Amino acid sequence: MADNRAFVMGHPIAHSRSPMLHGYWLKQLGIEGSYEKLDIAPEAIAAFFADFHAQGWIGGNVTVPHKTAVIPYLDRIDADAAAMGAVNTLYWDEGALVGGNTDSLGFLGNLDELIPDWQNGAKRAVVIGAGGAARAAVYGLLQRGLEVAICNRTAAKAAALAQHFDAKPKAYGLEAMGDLLENCDLLVNATSLGMVNQPPMDFDLTRLKPSAIVYDVIYVPLETALLQAAKAKGHRTVDGLGMLLHQGTVGFAHWFKQRPEVSAPLRALLVEDIRAKTPGA
Ligand code: ATR
Repeated sequence: MADNRAFVMGHPIAHSRSPMLHGYWLKQLGIEGSYEKLDIAPEAIAAFFADFHAQGWIGGNVTVPHKTAVIPYLDRIDADAAAMGAVNTLYWDEGALVGGNTDSLGFLGNLDELIPDWQNGAKRAVVIGAGGAARAAVYGLLQRGLEVAICNRTAAKAAALAQHFDAKPKAYGLEAMGDLLENCDLLVNATSLGMVNQPPMDFDLTRLKPSAIVYDVIYVPLETALLQAAKAKGHRTVDGLGMLLHQGTVGFAHWFKQRPEVSAPLRALLVEDIRAKTPGA
């Protein structure tokens, strides 16, 4: 059996782009290793972890629907996973199997790469949504010292997310959006609106502060209706593909002991795959 085997486990898993990403880096860096797609049904999780050591896994990614279900099988979770309440990356640390979460680092890494000066004068962020993606965005932005407003269709979920972060963010329903936009330096869509096969995000951006950056965590399609509208108004925009790429660098470094780069050819490879599989993307 080959050494240096990592994986992504989920159910279903066929559409995961992580193998393309990690396969690219393994080849580029000349590392002997593999990154395999594992379709693990919920009822098969216990058996998977019972065999984990014997299989020689060096770690892997965890995706839907297992991001919380794996936690009882781990020795511990790290601070990022605890803050996010979910695990997306498994790695070994001095013999302990640890669950981490790289989504907030991915969220920030993408923004830092595409708009390096984004923090110049950026004080207030508005995050739309209250699911897992919103949690990663809120956590990352609080770490960078921004004031964060969470705006969600179901206001109670926004309030619960704010509470999770010790009420540092403020919580609102969508009716507050118009007012919030006027003082917003960074607007983040962390809902599923605008994703392929979902309705578009059609908020009126008229009142958005002219200098605001607009970040959509969605990457299929690459340019959502929200980003198109923001660009048309002259805002700087960030798409979600880099979030996937940057979060991957953290797991790769844990497993293969080298920090890979997010490069233009890697981005182009993923863009080509998205376009090939998504008409109109
Ligand atoms: P993820 O974990 O990927 O972020 P999720 O937990 O399913 O996904 O969260 C989806 C987010 O999109 C939620 O904030 C959801 O709002 P609700 O909490 O009110 O469900 C938001 N969302 C989905 N469809 C929406 C719609 N048609 N209008 C507004 N918000 C929507």
